[in-house]
Amino acid sequence: MEDKNRVIIFDTTLRDGEQSPGASMNVNEKVRLAGRLEKLGVDVIEAGFPAASQGDFDAVAAVAQRCRKTGVAGLCRTSKADIDQAWGAISKAVKPRIHTFIATSDIHMEYKLKMSRDQVIAATIEAVRYARTLCGDVEFSAEDGSRSDRDFLCKVFSAAIGAGATTLNLPDTVGYAVPEEFSQLVAYVIAHTENIHKAVLSIHCHNDLGLATANTLAALNAGARQAEVTINGIGERAGNTSLEEVVMALHTRPNFFDLYTSIVTEQIVPASRLVTMITGMAVQPNKAIVGANAFAHEAGIHQDGVLKNPMTYEIMKPEVVGLSRNRMVLGKHSGRHALRSRLEEMGYLISDDEINTLFASFKDLADRKKHVVDEDLEALVAEAILRTPETFALEYLHVSAGNTVYPSATVKLRVHDKLVQGAEFGNGPIDATFNAISKLTGSKAELARFMVSALTGGTDAQGEVTVRLKENGLQAVGKGADPDIITASAKAFINGLNRLEYLKANPLHSSHTDIYD
Ligand code: KIV
Ligand code: ZN
Repeated sequence: MEDKNRVIIFDTTLRDGEQSPGASMNVNEKVRLAGRLEKLGVDVIEAGFPAASQGDFDAVAAVAQRCRKTGVAGLCRTSKADIDQAWGAISKAVKPRIHTFIATSDIHMEYKLKMSRDQVIAATIEAVRYARTLCGDVEFSAEDGSRSDRDFLCKVFSAAIGAGATTLNLPDTVGYAVPEEFSQLVAYVIAHTENIHKAVLSIHCHNDLGLATANTLAALNAGARQAEVTINGIGERAGNTSLEEVVMALHTRPNFFDLYTSIVTEQIVPASRLVTMITGMAVQPNKAIVGANAFAHEAGIHQDGVLKNPMTYEIMKPEVVGLSRNRMVLGKHSGRHALRSRLEEMGYLISDDEINTLFASFKDLADRKKHVVDEDLEALVAEAILRTPETFALEYLHVSAGNTVYPSATVKLRVHDKLVQGAEFGNGPIDATFNAISKLTGSKAELARFMVSALTGGTDAQGEVTVRLKENGLQAVGKGADPDIITASAKAFINGLNRLEYLKANPLHSSHTDIYD
């Protein structure tokens, strides 16, 4: 029998999280992240929306085959064709789940679906009934549930349970709810949905008013037992409820909530880092739990207190979320074994082939930088392991810049295994470098965002550059790190161009809005 105090963690980083602008992931990245989510102990991974494109179908199918413990869900609208696609992608999973949804708010039904209430109920019953002929585990979501008429919502949920739904999800699709009202809505649904005991009640919140975590916790307190979340809170617009915030609130305040999850909390920071690395979406430094400053104490009085007893100013131990207090520093005398064990402590699962590639880049970096710390290692992992197939590669870069010269860059690239070389001017060395690369690759990509930061302190720190590139409706993030920031910029730009090439060849989504049609 299910424990009434256990909260099911349904992770939608690979689906709703991926709907963040520019956060598209390729098949390999989704599979790698799914492995990490399985290690983190999530109960269900929503891997994507298989009907959106062949690329998304393939990614969901690959995740379904990869996960040997965790449930894998595929999202679909209520049409038979969508449900068939979802089932086709997840059927090889050990625990497959079909997740079908339709909007139930008046505004969505009238303007978007152009369907009456009766038609929405009929579509719900037909979809859930059909999905149950394929799969024993069927989740039904009432999109825009928090803005739906309460009694109609309960009617739809009752119909979905009658048709065989095993989970009912109540989304705050537009992030409009406030905690007290949302918990009242959950209580109302529990009281007025027929046979509610036959299904798990789930919530799915968006963060438009910064209330996603608060709404999720309020709903769990009112009786919901599945939380839909993403790592780092990534997702549509202002994002989804962040997994780490909900899990650590339940973990840190057991007397208040008396609820628990199966999450291995020590895996939270490694999972957060991998999401940042793959999506290029940096976590704000003051972000709860996983931000760089979440456990940093600046004020003297706080530092004094923490040294005397950490619990004076720390409500959670950093080790519990996977941050180690003792950071090992590697250098040019460190061997392959030390590198591998540090990476494993940081939570990376590294194969023998990968360690060979990484060790070569590590030695190269250690020759140029005395101390190689965790942030440097992360950048190496990102470059060496998460690399997209390379259409373009940097062979040589020379820039001339200063306050008395007109900046220029000479670049040699490998383009489809052919060497090409050229030079360009620009209004600065980075502009000149990007101009030269664009000319050599023939790329028309527009630079939508450019961010540079130092990976660590010190003047010998590596510069890390993130770019967001746009071309014909496609967006890609590129990253590069190097002690020389112009080289880091060139690497990031080329990485972004490679990702665009990959997206052109393997489109994940024809558009981001199509799944809500
Ligand atoms: O926000 C939302 O309503 C969704 C549904 C598809 C569950 O993401
Ligand atoms: Zn959503």
